Amino acid sequence: MQKLSNSIQLAHCLLKDRLVEANIIIDATAGNGNDTLFLAQNAKSKAKLYAFDIQEQAILNTKKLLIENKNNINLPLENIKFIHDSHENINNYIQAKIDVAIFNLGYLPGGDHEFTTKNDITLKTIDKILNVLNINGYIAIVMYPGHEEGLKEYQAIKLFVKDLPKKAFTVGWYKMINHNLNAPALCWIEKVGEYA
Ligand SMILES: C[S@@+](CC[C@H](N)C(=O)[O-])C[C@H]1O[C@@H](n2cnc3c(N)ncnc32)[C@H](O)[C@@H]1O
Repeated sequence: MQKLSNSIQLAHCLLKDRLVEANIIIDATAGNGNDTLFLAQNAKSKAKLYAFDIQEQAILNTKKLLIENKNNINLPLENIKFIHDSHENINNYIQAKIDVAIFNLGYLPGGDHEFTTKNDITLKTIDKILNVLNINGYIAIVMYPGHEEGLKEYQAIKLFVKDLPKKAFTVGWYKMINHNLNAPALCWIEKVGEYA
């Protein structure tokens, strides 16, 4: 499978090793459940996985996909929480430290664009997760600068992450430089030290 041509595949590649040890895992944008399924397939059996979405239909689709695949995932279904709420309310649901989180931003392909992620909420949530991320924990963020709100989000995330203290985080930024400028891009953040 080609990995470098697809920011989601690349994000999965980067998260895979970390998932083996992760206890608390977040899918911040469940959508149709493909990322939740990937996380559940690669997590250890005792991990807890939380999938958020503001669209009830997305939560139902994700739940359905996970139930259909219950024999192909490492986690018992009761370790997966499907949360119909905005990821900015994460602290209402999770008090433990987080090991792995993924954001696959934007709107569902073919879905209502009204439900796209918004840069202020996304940044607020990323910051909340950075504060409770375990050392060696990872956040992967797949961004879509090809639509208006997605471009604002991409630019806001870039401004925010480039100034994160390097004693606390290592930040990677992936863009295909020989493709269209608007092609999906990937940001990943590894916590390497305390974040005061
Ligand atoms: C590109 S889709 C996610 C794709 C999904 N991960 C998958 O594998 O199918 C983006 C999703 O983010 C959701 N979303 C937008 N704002 C959100 C928020 N504040 N909190 C949680 N989900 C949100 C949308 O409803 C949409 O389903």
